[in-house]
Amino acid sequence: MKEINTHFQKLQDSYLFAEVNHRVQAYLREQPDARLIRMGIGDVTLPLPKSVIEAMHRAVDDEAKAQTLRGYGPEQGYDFLREAIEEHDYRARGIDISKDEVFISDGAKSDTANIVDLFSNDVRLAITDPVYPVYVDSNVLAGRTGELMDDGRWSGISYLDCNRENGFVPTLPSEHVDVIYLCLPNNPTGTTLTRDQLQQWVDYAQAEDAIILYDGAYEAFVREEDVPRSIYELKGAKQCAIEFRSYSKTAGFTGVRCGYTVVPKDLQVGSASLNAMWRRRQTTKFNGASYISQRGAAAIYTEEGKKEVRQNIDYYLHNAGVIRDAFLKVGYEVFGGINSPYVWVKTPDAYPQSWDFFEYLLREKQVIGTPGVGFGQQGEGYFRFSAFGSTEDTREAMERMLK
Ligand code: MLT
Repeated sequence: MKEINTHFQKLQDSYLFAEVNHRVQAYLREQPDARLIRMGIGDVTLPLPKSVIEAMHRAVDDEAKAQTLRGYGPEQGYDFLREAIEEHDYRARGIDISKDEVFISDGAKSDTANIVDLFSNDVRLAITDPVYPVYVDSNVLAGRTGELMDDGRWSGISYLDCNRENGFVPTLPSEHVDVIYLCLPNNPTGTTLTRDQLQQWVDYAQAEDAIILYDGAYEAFVREEDVPRSIYELKGAKQCAIEFRSYSKTAGFTGVRCGYTVVPKDLQVGSASLNAMWRRRQTTKFNGASYISQRGAAAIYTEEGKKEVRQNIDYYLHNAGVIRDAFLKVGYEVFGGINSPYVWVKTPDAYPQSWDFFEYLLREKQVIGTPGVGFGQQGEGYFRFSAFGSTEDTREAMERMLK
């Protein structure tokens, strides 16, 4: 008998950003001339760095000749990119990660979702609330959670509340957990942990024999010295953490697609090597990121590429500062926006529900943001603004909203 994976039916009809888009499209059908300013999904607006574009053009030329044509590439990625990562993202920062521990992919979203394949269905998960919805939904689909409860949470998950009281940074689980998702700098709140704070998580994971799934998609935005850019800066992390990295926000690859995941060889569960398991998983289900994308990604490690990437990130960070300062000036409660492109803001008293504030901003100010509750129960009454627009639009949005 044909039977579907019924876990799909547990999920809401649409993914958060699809719902935002659906509401925006409905509004545009009513008001086709509205000039919307988009500060919702974290999608880049600056063109790709020049060195990336040139490298991709050269890669296209390679594909145009039989002698240099690349067909299927290595599933784990080309050596030229894995070696550049080993050298620039790790060794240059005093971290010993070898290229065999680096797996190139089409981005952190798929990897953070696919990693669930490595674990049995009875592992105890710890997930922050609010959280990037992919971590929760991918586990729901895998059947690793129970039912959706009345409070909007899933049974079978240990939620780590992040709220005004703890400054929207997670505190250690109060019970034993096996797998912990951490996203730092955080999506959606833009908050970070210091090196000392993150060390406590690594120590906890080692003591509890837990694994940390560390999403570092926003590491390029870190500017403060005491905020780590990689979990492997911390002692013991290679024995307990998998790190996900993305070129989407770093170098504008949201449409190009390329990222990578580090699974250290030291990472064992019993006698099983997670590095070997992930390699097996990827060689079975993935044929690698495109040669052209990987050539583009490698270009960001050149001197010129690094400079261009830095300029782009500085531009977005400047926008984040504009948003932060404008809200703070008129007395809003604000988090993030310092080492992050996201600014997390308490909604005004007149709009205690995030979706109501979304509708108000859309209809009255023609500004799109993301309702905090879409990231979890603790996000109710908060709102996320993305700094990935132009500075002109960012300023105009602040004027419209705070007038
Ligand atoms: C976001 O806006 O949270 C991100 O752009 C979504 C993503 O990275 O998939």
